[in-house]
Amino acid sequence: MKQESSPRIFAAEQRSRWRSDPPGIWSLEGADLDSVPALSILTTLWDQPRWLEAYHLYDQRGSELFEEICRLPEYYLTRTENSILESHAADIIAAAPVQCVVELGAGTSKKTVHLLTEQTRRRGRSIFAPIDVSVSALLASQEAVRRDFPQIEFHGLHARYEEGFNAIEKSLPTLFVFLGSTIGNFNHTDFPRFFRALAAAMGPNDFLLLGADRVKPVKLLEDAYNDSRGITAEFILNVFRNINHRLHSNFDLDQMRYHSWYNPEWQQIEMFAVATESQQIRFPEMGASFHWRRDEKILVEISRKFEPLRLQEQLRFFELAPVKHFTDPDQWFSVLLLKKRG
Ligand SMILES: C[S@@+](CC[C@H](N)C(=O)[O-])C[C@H]1O[C@@H](n2cnc3c(N)ncnc32)[C@H](O)[C@@H]1O
Repeated sequence: MKQESSPRIFAAEQRSRWRSDPPGIWSLEGADLDSVPALSILTTLWDQPRWLEAYHLYDQRGSELFEEICRLPEYYLTRTENSILESHAADIIAAAPVQCVVELGAGTSKKTVHLLTEQTRRRGRSIFAPIDVSVSALLASQEAVRRDFPQIEFHGLHARYEEGFNAIEKSLPTLFVFLGSTIGNFNHTDFPRFFRALAAAMGPNDFLLLGADRVKPVKLLEDAYNDSRGITAEFILNVFRNINHRLHSNFDLDQMRYHSWYNPEWQQIEMFAVATESQQIRFPEMGASFHWRRDEKILVEISRKFEPLRLQEQLRFFELAPVKHFTDPDQWFSVLLLKKRG
């Protein structure tokens, strides 16, 4: 197969490391996104309390279920953030003079189209580079961008966040976009690690657009993560189907249930799988097993809620200075524009 020549989004020292297959979707040479999780799954499952990294939720079925969640009436996050981007895309793009938009954990990039519309209207030819571990999401995004934005050069990066943003050329003025309040899924260790690494990867003319869900009345929050159709439950428990598939383990989905609540002290929704019967969980290839006791919980995902001013203050410590703050009339969600301090 003829290799595509490496695009200018990649830093010089990174160019030889990336391969495109299919065209327009780039992966790190030799990287196998399925191979690393075994250890990361076992180390957190042996922790107390047992927990999992959110990353494992997004196999193909997980990505489809997440798309369904975004359309649920209770899940106000997507439509609220979308309305903020729709109303303020022109202000955002005017304030961030860039040639490239790099979206982290992009999914199908449906909300990002508002930014791409303004970017092409104002600046013509530009680059869009979504980064995601879900190749099906990147392919859907590629199809939509090719159809609707002929002036946009599309490069999907099938990679983890850090692998992706570390590859971007620092001298290319870039707007990094991180939507969906995905930062809320980072625990208190991952959060500083992520922002330290992202800020170090950003160039002096780069910006970050960050979507963050806000602290609000508990009923609204808890309903958003416990919908009446049970889609969130299916999304969370699907992680065990994914783990069984990858590691040939024997989690029994019929003997577990979903439970979520808002932890007010930590300002986060916590989403658990609870064993309804005790199970002996085996990982034959790793020679490991554990006893999952009846009623014992595994923390599958958290969704932290933020106070935007405090978040802005905190991000200053990562060399990210606030530029503008956009919100909705109910002040349920915030979209923050930040600039890398030069
Ligand atoms: C909560 S969804 C948000 C999707 C989209 N940005 C939105 O706002 O609707 C998180 C996305 O991040 C991706 N993802 C999760 N962990 C990742 C990682 N470590 N590196 C890259 N992408 C990741 C998932 O595949 C998923 O598409």
